[in-house]
Amino acid sequence: MKEAIGDRFHAVLVDNGVMRLNECQTVKKQLGDHLGINLKVVDASDKFLDRLKGVTDPEKKRKIIGNTFIEVFESEAAKIDLENKESGHGNIEYLLQGTLYPDVIESISFKGPSATIKTHHNVGGLTKNMKLKLIEPLRELFKDEVRELGKILSIDEDLIWRHPFPGPGIAIRILGEVTPSQVAIVRAADHIFIEEIKKAGLYRKISQAYAALLPVKAVGVMGDKRTYEQVIALRAVETTDFMTADWFPFPYDVLKRISNRIINEVKGVNRVVYDVSSKPPATIEWE
Ligand code: XMP
Repeated sequence: MKEAIGDRFHAVLVDNGVMRLNECQTVKKQLGDHLGINLKVVDASDKFLDRLKGVTDPEKKRKIIGNTFIEVFESEAAKIDLENKESGHGNIEYLLQGTLYPDVIESISFKGPSATIKTHHNVGGLTKNMKLKLIEPLRELFKDEVRELGKILSIDEDLIWRHPFPGPGIAIRILGEVTPSQVAIVRAADHIFIEEIKKAGLYRKISQAYAALLPVKAVGVMGDKRTYEQVIALRAVETTDFMTADWFPFPYDVLKRISNRIINEVKGVNRVVYDVSSKPPATIEWE
């Protein structure tokens, strides 16, 4: 899009407060270094976290996040319109987003609302009332096809092979209420998990991996003291289309290293479990 319309393209990343550790800065740097895109990071974390207070239902979380994204994008577009007015340029008319085919399939219910698997933050009803018109060039492609396209466009390998990350972010990986302290726990655990996967040379073999925080406490022992802390669930899957997926058969020594590091380094966690469920019947995200 930048090559097609140059300065009329404005790249905006909304920080929703539920991104991974250092994610916004990393993405800004990658897009700047590799594609020469000046990404504007809009910090709307307070707004998102405020609206998520007390919410535990997965679909409610998804809808709140989807609607808030639209609100923030529209307000950013209005700001750019104001600047454009002064320089004699036109208004922002379109929102470009990277919706993929699986997002569309899972969000649309063919048999009534109860048949919707999950409302993806970027699809369907959520964008119905938006003033901006949508451009979704990847809407009919699966992830492997998007990667092929990326190669044709000579996009940097690291960007092409990044694991997907859902729009609702770690809000749907914190089961139960999303609070700043829960966000901090899951961020720290997730960071260790991905770091160890990369160190073991497994990042590209795995299609998607992340840590989730369960809303339960378990008893443990640290030194000679009883602990009563939370549980981290690790999820790693292999898939090509993300419509079906198999759990990844980790070498035991890698799992052992990851679990030791998480329990020793992340305060508030005393137990790590590995999710051995395939999709279907489980889904890739826990919510
Ligand atoms: P599930 O959990 O449905 O996930 O098996 C399939 C793939 O979709 C991603 N996902 C999303 N991506 N917005 C997105 O952009 C969303 O709301 C959303 N929900 C799930 C998920 O991470 C996996 O790659």
